Amino acid sequence: MPERRRPYVAGNWKMHKTVAETAAYMDELKRVLPADPPADVGVCVPFTALAAAVEAARGTAIKVCAQNMHQQAQGAYTGEISAPMLVELAVNGVVLGHSERRQYNCETDRALQDKVPAALAAGLEPILCVGETEEERDGGETERRLRHQVQEALEKVPPEQLGDVVIAYEPVWAIGTGRVATAAQAQEAIAFIRALVGDRSKEAAERVRVLYGGSVKPDNAAEILSQPDVDGALVGGASLDPNDLAAIVAACG
Ligand code: 13P
Repeated sequence: MPERRRPYVAGNWKMHKTVAETAAYMDELKRVLPADPPADVGVCVPFTALAAAVEAARGTAIKVCAQNMHQQAQGAYTGEISAPMLVELAVNGVVLGHSERRQYNCETDRALQDKVPAALAAGLEPILCVGETEEERDGGETERRLRHQVQEALEKVPPEQLGDVVIAYEPVWAIGTGRVATAAQAQEAIAFIRALVGDRSKEAAERVRVLYGGSVKPDNAAEILSQPDVDGALVGGASLDPNDLAAIVAACG
């Protein structure tokens, strides 16, 4: 039997929380999380709050992640942040390809093809986000879209490292809308994503963690997280309250 994948619940704060708010949040999160949570727990915070979050997480198992990263280590890229800069802050991971960055900041599958291996090479755990729009789902294009996003972004990752990537399936129509995917929809899409990884490496498919994201709340988390291929959640709005994030972590137990 392959080892059971450890669930992972990460809170994506998006553009929320100052340094002062981060310190208060982390104090509360540490207070409400059990000593031995049933999942890995992470917070994906704005660049300006990373150092404060890392400092607050020291001595705990809470992972601190950035929300984006440039694919080059350095260069003339005004306004960008590189993997070595994140590593210097002792950041653990980085969200890559979030649909909001694809929509508003011209993030492309081509850039992700370099970002994912750059993160891995630097020792950062990438959380690669993929997901279809409502139009694509209604048009029966979900699998085509997911295949394109997953294959393109993972193309330059060697098979033995594929299992180190975390993938978040985030249907665009479920993000920030309160319209959570059904457990069956999440399971179906995530099993498909796992099979895509399996086309490259069977071992990686067993090991890779695929999370669901999109309107996950304390009261709907357990049903989605109970699906066999759903390895956790990437939580937006609900993660802004540490009590709600902790409640979603508890739903993994
Ligand atoms: P919501 O949980 O607010 O729908 O956001 C999901 C998301 O985009 C996480 O990255």
